[in-house]
Amino acid sequence: IADIQDDIAEELVSKEQIDAKIREVAAQVDRDYAGKDPLLIAVLKGAVNTLAAFSQALSIPVTMDFMSLSSYGSGTVSSGKITVRQDLSTDVKGRHVLIVEDIIDSGITLDWLIKELKRRGAASVEVFALLEKPARHEVHIDVKYKGYEIPDKFVVGFGLDYDERYRNLDSIAVLAPKVYQGEQQ
Ligand code: PRP
Ligand code: MN
Ligand code: MG
Repeated sequence: IADIQDDIAEELVSKEQIDAKIREVAAQVDRDYAGKDPLLIAVLKGAVNTLAAFSQALSIPVTMDFMSLSSYGSGTVSSGKITVRQDLSTDVKGRHVLIVEDIIDSGITLDWLIKELKRRGAASVEVFALLEKPARHEVHIDVKYKGYEIPDKFVVGFGLDYDERYRNLDSIAVLAPKVYQGEQQ
């Protein structure tokens, strides 16, 4: 039977570390957003695991919505172009929005989304990103709620994919190079 671990070279962030960080950020957000009826917006598909864990770690009532954005397609390098695969069902006008993201790589996805939500009239827009790759940033993003900084390695797990696979791994790990060797860009 094929095992997901067979394609993993190294674990970068454990399940326990992910859980601890999410609890820490949730405690902060409980304080900062008390009485504000925040709208959590998860960027699908990668943010789905982070949103599920994070929302359950919060004590304050929130609403949630989803936007499906893609910049990577099936490769390991960003195309630099954002495709809206599925839009929100909520009007963000006047709402205090907290974007939930799995990772900031070039920053192009979030730069686009933050501007778009402000254009639609959100009262405030902040970001929780579980992971950040500072070495790869091309645009500056103001991230109020930061998770872990990781080195410039292609990672999968906890929502992050390579060609749609490995999202269901419960930790963040470096994919074995054999998996994407011969990739066509
Ligand atoms: C990945 C990741 C972030 C984005 C980060 O999404 O989940 O949303 O790329 O990269 P950036 O900072 O360079 O824009 P992807 O486009 O792979 O779509 P997915 O979430 O459906 O996997
Ligand atoms: Mn994504
Ligand atoms: Mg992806």
